Amino acid sequence: MKTIGILSSGGDAPGMNAAIRAVVRTAVYNKLRVMAIRRGFNGLIRGDIEEMSAASVGEIIHRGGTILHTARCEEFKTPEGVKKAYNIAKIFGIDAVIVVGGDGSFRGARDLSKLGMPVIGIPGTIDNDIACTDYTIGFDTAVNTVIDALNKIRDTVTSHERINIIEVMGRRAGDIALYSGLAGGAENVIVPEIEYNIDEICRSLIQGKNRGKQSYIIIVAEGAGNAFSIAKEIEEKTGFEVRVTVLGHLQRGGSPTAMDRLLASRMGAYAVNILLEGKTNRIVAVRGSRIVDYDIDEALSMPKEIDESMYELARILSI
Ligand code: F6P
Repeated sequence: MKTIGILSSGGDAPGMNAAIRAVVRTAVYNKLRVMAIRRGFNGLIRGDIEEMSAASVGEIIHRGGTILHTARCEEFKTPEGVKKAYNIAKIFGIDAVIVVGGDGSFRGARDLSKLGMPVIGIPGTIDNDIACTDYTIGFDTAVNTVIDALNKIRDTVTSHERINIIEVMGRRAGDIALYSGLAGGAENVIVPEIEYNIDEICRSLIQGKNRGKQSYIIIVAEGAGNAFSIAKEIEEKTGFEVRVTVLGHLQRGGSPTAMDRLLASRMGAYAVNILLEGKTNRIVAVRGSRIVDYDIDEALSMPKEIDESMYELARILSI
């Protein structure tokens, strides 16, 4: 193992830069070369590759986004694309590829590993939708961004005694909605994993108003339903005024929190260290307070589940 390639792929997430920094610096410390592969798997197919140094990752630990750029690559989803990428990696003398990204990126990495290129995955996505790890890089920052928005929205909602629905990211996983709903005191949380009942929401809303609640915030994960349709239904059923705020891509930006920087630094260094130990085709994860690794096939076959006790807690604490 002499040369490692590193790329970021899929949706960016705050803390990806801290992970890239940790990979590069740990590799350089151990006398390995590191090649930057730009724009995800596209860069591997096109040879958009350049050597990095310890200095090339200076001043990035606090920056959101990814200095390597990222993309979702359609060509890489074909066997021809994967073969091209494998050949280019070989031409550039790359002995292993570290992929910072989400589930789709890890599936791409696995395809590459099947041709004989060792890979290591580092979970970087705001969605926290990777089953083998308790947390993904970027999730904590995104939740804090949502809470900040929720606090601000709460001010105006209270002044007008209205209802506001905040739509957050999460196509398949409701963790951003659940964690920010619980931490921000939202009255209802709607997630893709758990069926919701609009009449129950309307009833608790009316009961809350009767008890003197001055504000009412519902957090909905984008994969759980359309915030505007839910708002319309609530208005029609209760006669209350409902506003909708879609937070969108602002959840993907910003300086990473300390938690994300720590997670990214530990995972990045760990990824290089396991390669040095001779391990290949692994996904790095955090379980409790420990950084661990899983076989890539095993990791990708684990079902991601929502913490139902936390969902129940959010419900109880918002009465
Ligand atoms: O997977 C991360 C994510 O931010 C999802 O939460 C969201 O649905 C999606 O990416 C948006 O992707 P894009 O930036 O390509 O619109």
